[in-house]
Formats: sequence, C-alpha cells, structure tokens
Amino acid sequence: MPEISPPLSEPLDVLVVGSGVAGLSCAVRLATLERARVGILTKGSLTQSTTRFAQGGIAAVLPGDEDSTDSHLADTLAAGAGLCDEAAVRVLVDEGPSRVTELIALGAVFDRLPSGVLERALEGGHSSPRILHAGGTATGAEVERALVQAVEETAASLLEHWFALDLLVEEGRCRGVVALDPAGARAEVRAGAVVLACGGAGQLYSVTTNPDEATGDGIAMALRAGVAVADLEFIQFHPTALHHPAMPRPLISEALRGHGAILRTAEGERFVDELAPRDVVSRAIARELTRSGTDHVYLDCTGIEAFSSRFPTIAVALGTAGLDPAREWLPVAPAAHYLCGGVLTDLDGRTSLPGLLAAGEVACTGVHGANRLASNSLLEGLVFGARASEAVSSGRLERAETGVFAPAAVPLRAFGELAPAPAPVRGALRAGEARRRLQAEMSADAGVVRDAASLDAAAKVVAEIETGFGRPSSVEEAEVSNLCLIGRALLEAAAARRESRGAHTRADFPERSETYRARLVFGRQQSDG
Ligand code: SIN
Repeated sequence: MPEISPPLSEPLDVLVVGSGVAGLSCAVRLATLERARVGILTKGSLTQSTTRFAQGGIAAVLPGDEDSTDSHLADTLAAGAGLCDEAAVRVLVDEGPSRVTELIALGAVFDRLPSGVLERALEGGHSSPRILHAGGTATGAEVERALVQAVEETAASLLEHWFALDLLVEEGRCRGVVALDPAGARAEVRAGAVVLACGGAGQLYSVTTNPDEATGDGIAMALRAGVAVADLEFIQFHPTALHHPAMPRPLISEALRGHGAILRTAEGERFVDELAPRDVVSRAIARELTRSGTDHVYLDCTGIEAFSSRFPTIAVALGTAGLDPAREWLPVAPAAHYLCGGVLTDLDGRTSLPGLLAAGEVACTGVHGANRLASNSLLEGLVFGARASEAVSSGRLERAETGVFAPAAVPLRAFGELAPAPAPVRGALRAGEARRRLQAEMSADAGVVRDAASLDAAAKVVAEIETGFGRPSSVEEAEVSNLCLIGRALLEAAAARRESRGAHTRADFPERSETYRARLVFGRQQSDG
C-alpha cells in the first residue's frame, strides 16, 4: 500500500464512519445541538448507503394511535425468538415516535391519507398496521434525502470516497481510524470519539438485497481490534426478493403481503401465512423450493388494487423486468437482507472499547434478537444514532452495564478473540474472483438452512480463499478480506449454535434449545485498561 499521508490537520470531535440513517442522524444531532466538529467518512458518496434501498418503512406508534407501544414491544420480542434485549426494545418503541417526529420536522415527507393523517401499512409479524412510509415503498430513499441535506449544511468535514481500514487504538481507547484517502494513500483520521455506522454484510451472499458496499467493514474492524461482536449467525433472509438476475435483487416489499398479496407454489397452492415473521416465511419458501426442485415461488399481487399508485417504485422495477403485477404472479425467492448481530453496544451505543460507539445495522443493541421484525431497522438507526450522539456529548465514553451488557440480559457466551486471517500462501486470487467464490459458498452452505457438514464445508472454502488471496492492497481487496473474516466468524458461531432459532435454522438441530439462549460473543466484553 502507498505510504501513510500526514494526519488531517486537527482532530475532529467525532468521526462518524458510514452515511446511512444511524450515522447521519447521529451526526446531525451532534452538529446542530452540540455544535460539535463532526466528520463523516464514507467509502462512497454521502447518498450511497443501504438505507436508500429500504422500502416498507418505519414502524412506530405515534401519540393518539389506537395501537400501543406495548404491542409493538410484544411483536418485536416474539419475532426475536427469545434473544431480544427487552430493555433495548423498550427504548426502541418508546423513543421511536419522537425521533420520527423530529425526522418529519427536518423535512422528510411521509405518505398521508387525503385527511392529512399519516398513512400506515401492515407488515409481517406486526399485530396492527403501524408502518409509516414514503413514496409508497421508497421510505429509505426519502429518509436518506432529508438527512443528507441536513448533514451537508452542518458537518465540519465530509470525507467521501475514503475507506476506513482499521480502528486507531491507543492506550485502550479508540482515537480514530486508519483510512485510505480517495487517492489510495493511507491516512490517520483522529477524533475524540468514533461512531461506527457503516451497515451490514449482505455481500457475503451471491443473492442479496444489499448494495455492493455492504461488506461489513465496521464489524471486521471491530473483530480485528478484539471489540465484542455477537449474533453474527443471524443473517436475515428477506422472503420475497424478485427472482431476476439484477443485483442487488429488487425487493418486493413485505408491505405487498400486508396489502393482501399471496405466496403460491408453481401449482398455485398457498403454503404459508404471508404475514408470519420473516424467518418463518423464508423457511417455508426454502422447504417449498427443496420439495419442488425449483428456484422460486410466486407472489400473487393480482388482487391489489391501484398497484402502481400505491407502490410506484416497485411498479417501475417490475415494468423494467417485463412483469405486470395486475396480470401475472411474480417470481420471488429469499435473499440475504439484514445482519441481526454486530458490534455489541449498551443502551447508549457504547461498545466494549472506550471511545468507540456503534449504531444501526453494524451494531448489536439486542433489539432484533435472532430475527428482526419488519421495519424496525430504520427505527433502530434513528433511535440509537440519537442515543449515541447523546453519549458522545455527555463525554461518557465507557460502556455501562445496560442493555446487552446488563447482568439480567441474555447471557453473553465468550468465544475469545477470532484468530487473525491465515498467512497468504499464494496471493493469486483476484478480488472479484475471491468475492464471487465466497458468496457462492456462503449461499450454498450457510444460507436459510444449514447443518454441521455444510458449515464445515463452507469454513474450508473460506480458509482456502483467505490463504489464496494475499494481503489487501486496495479497497476491493480490503472489502473481500473483511467479508472473509466475518464469514469465518459467522460460520464458527453457526456451527456452535446447535439449535434452530429465528434466522438460524439447523437441519440437524431443528428445535430451539434453552441451552443456547445466549449470545455467542467474539472479542473482549470489557476494555483491558
Ligand atoms: C420491506 O419493505 O419488505 C423491507 C422492510 C424491512 O427490511 O424492514
């Protein structure tokens, strides 16, 4: 790699890594409420994040609704299959409504009924229609638009096309990151606190709804630094991605099932409750694919009235694919969609490394447990991005015994630190080829359903890729290294979890087991110093 370039002239108060809903909402609050010097470092442009792909919306019970936050809490806990942290979920459902109101005040425009009242949709696992949405199913794009505009007006430093390679840790504290600047030179970006908000790792799989950038860089940096990371085995597959060569796979929002769309076999039979939580629907589809020997089932939307005015962006995507939802069933199949685990945080986003915080998909606050409830992800980003900003401004940067770290929480079971990547022996594999091989293997052997033999086979292939790949010397190579590292941790945790729970289904251990009501944690849960 090129020589290290001189550090940025003055350390920032806060460096936010990532530009999705969690990072931007944290940054906007810090810059506007605290007048902090905030920098945002992102490997693409500011608008390039997984947030912009989010469709369905934001689950929230607003004041005056007949619905209740207790019901939202109960639905979230039920979907999470025994692994949610109830205190974190309570924070999510109670603080969510105020964060949504602030987002609207910031300029985000949500869909309303002719009366002016905010329109709500129903999605799987929710006992009431409580999903706020924008542009039909373009909610993420609208949230991103509003936040990017606010950040552009307030941030001290926008480091676009910078790639964070590793955390800068000095005397047991995070002091910034080592990054590649847009010209490929290494540089230190120093800050009083770092907030990781750089999303998930859908690129571990060949079929995913996540963009190319979703390579788990934040989680990999945390793993390398020995920061506590958990629940990686819970990769959520969205049941209804369009079966089509486009990548990321066009999502056929859960909101369609909330509007009455029906899942059918090729013979036209219904085979699952379309509004069950996502893990249940994905498993039922996987079973049906095995039974029928095909690679897709069908979503029948022919009963949905005024499809293109209610779901304009999906109608356009379907038109591009040559499909007419009013006349034909849509071919769909599960696609990797969301990582329920990540960097462990207390209720204020603080991790096991003082000075390092995390929010959004990169984090594991415990709100999702073993399976995220639909439309809780943008909400989590808003709520915990704001909490992280408050922790930073209070100057309390050591994690507390709250949330997943509380003594009464789901037990943390330590794995110790993940072994470093094996030394390269050949260095012959190119980044693109290595990524494709990794994705194909993870899809074949660590997908919706796994077992001991398939996980073992996948671990061997990942080790082969790691040794054949060489030391990363470009962004593309660093991304593949990160994916391999997370893949290795995911496979280790999935092999150790000898039960089926939420998004983790073991063909050889089909039942849920009380022995495994625990989080499997890599890294140190406490700082050393
Ligand atoms: C969807 O619209 O189906 C996706 C929403 C989510 O991932 O929560």
